[in-house]
Amino acid sequence: MTEDAPAGATLTFDGRPIPFRPGQTVGAALTAQGIVSWRTTRREHTERGLFCGIGVCFDCLVTVDGQRVQRACITPACDGQDVRSEHPDTALPIPGEQA
Ligand code: FES
Repeated sequence: MTEDAPAGATLTFDGRPIPFRPGQTVGAALTAQGIVSWRTTRREHTERGLFCGIGVCFDCLVTVDGQRVQRACITPACDGQDVRSEHPDTALPIPGEQA
């Protein structure tokens, strides 16, 4: 749980260390570091980040520890987590097939 995050806990975002406080979500940790967009839309390539902030709109998608399509606004930040921006032109994996 994020409440147990050690002092000085960090995740990485596209390889960049991002510190966070216990209880923060990935989206909150990114925003606190001034990172407000981390994916683009498929057609218009407009930037997206937090919008609803409650897990409803899916604007905040990221890849977390290799798991694509995770909502940053509801994903607890964890020490050592590998968070990556989403690229909409990359096909999603087909369940049961190797990536
Ligand atoms: S900001 Fe809407 S689902 Fe995350």
